[in-house]
Amino acid sequence: MPKRFGLIAAVCALSAAGLAAAQSAQPLPTSPETYVAARQASFGLSAATFGGLKAALDAGQTPKSQAFQAKALARWAKTLPTLFPEGSTTAASKALPAVWSDRAGFDKAAAGYVEATAKLQAAAEADDKAAFEAVWAQTREACGTCHKSYRAASGRS
Ligand code: HEC
Repeated sequence: MPKRFGLIAAVCALSAAGLAAAQSAQPLPTSPETYVAARQASFGLSAATFGGLKAALDAGQTPKSQAFQAKALARWAKTLPTLFPEGSTTAASKALPAVWSDRAGFDKAAAGYVEATAKLQAAAEADDKAAFEAVWAQTREACGTCHKSYRAASGRS
């Protein structure tokens, strides 16, 4: 019996190793198209989430009921700069060249967004309506500050 278990374990280990080898043979997704598609999808989802926060409060829901959404937005804010590596642009992208030529300014705008969304998450978790509404407006300004210098005008917010 123990022998058979040993064999099963060995087979499992081998297939795990095989899987790891197969995975490492796949190239990492690093094409500019992949980055542009990922960030545009994330911006779309985050805009929907952000608008939903306000709509929920206007409809009489508590800030606390929005804690999950606010936390997701705060996590996205921290991830945002990693989706703009050097050279990650295509004809479909609305990112202005300034994202890369003025990286310090872009990172500063992104940091302002991280700060605002962290406060938004804290206000939701504390169920503090006044703070939540004030910080929601601050977050909207953080979106606008970045778009003004780093996104081509498109008629969208
Ligand atoms: C640090 C900069 C920065 C911040 C902060 C930021 N954005 Fe953007 N946003 C961009 C850039 C750059 C693009 C263009 C991306 C591309 O097309 O490659 C963009 C694109 C978008 C798009 C269009 C996506 C598409 O489908 O093409 C929407 C919608 C959007 N942002 C909404 C928001 C909202 C809402 C916020 C705040 C809650 C926000 N953004 C915060 C820089 C930012």
